[in-house]
Amino acid sequence: MLKLADVQKTDIVYDLGCGDGRIVIAAAKIYGAHAVGIDINPVRLAEANENLKKAGRKSRSSSGSKRTTCSADIHKATVVTLFLLSSVNLKLRPKLLADLKPGTRVVSHLRHGRLEAGKRVHGGQSGRGILLSHKLFLWIIPARK
Ligand SMILES: C[S@@+](CC[C@H](N)C(=O)[O-])C[C@H]1O[C@@H](n2cnc3c(N)ncnc32)[C@H](O)[C@@H]1O
Repeated sequence: MLKLADVQKTDIVYDLGCGDGRIVIAAAKIYGAHAVGIDINPVRLAEANENLKKAGRKSRSSSGSKRTTCSADIHKATVVTLFLLSSVNLKLRPKLLADLKPGTRVVSHLRHGRLEAGKRVHGGQSGRGILLSHKLFLWIIPARK
């Protein structure tokens, strides 16, 4: 997902529904980007914080960061990653279009939730002898009309 978004050091990556923080950590460690994770589930957030610590990354998370994707302040993002239900993507769509700057890249794993347009990519990755197939979708937030 980060490769597809062509993440650079100057990017600010928001993983909406960050789970155990793996995308946040990869964005910071591999790509040198500033990364922010938001999750509704405090157990996942605690896991993410633990994993950030293990990865030697500073965690500025607090209970205040327990946000839903729909209420979070995301305007600083230059890249947004999503691995959420289609229904959540669909709810998020107006917020993404309203809050994100034109040119922001949005990558969704598996579910497009009718975010419409953009590039659809099927990535193949070999894992433990099994060929795993990942469907990724990339959108660029358009200029405001
Ligand atoms: C499939 S996991 C993806 C984790 C991570 N982004 C990844 O790709 O490895 C989905 C995560 O989204 C969180 N989530 C689901 N709905 C959410 C919402 N409305 N707001 C914030 N987080 C949400 C869940 O708690 C879960 O941790």
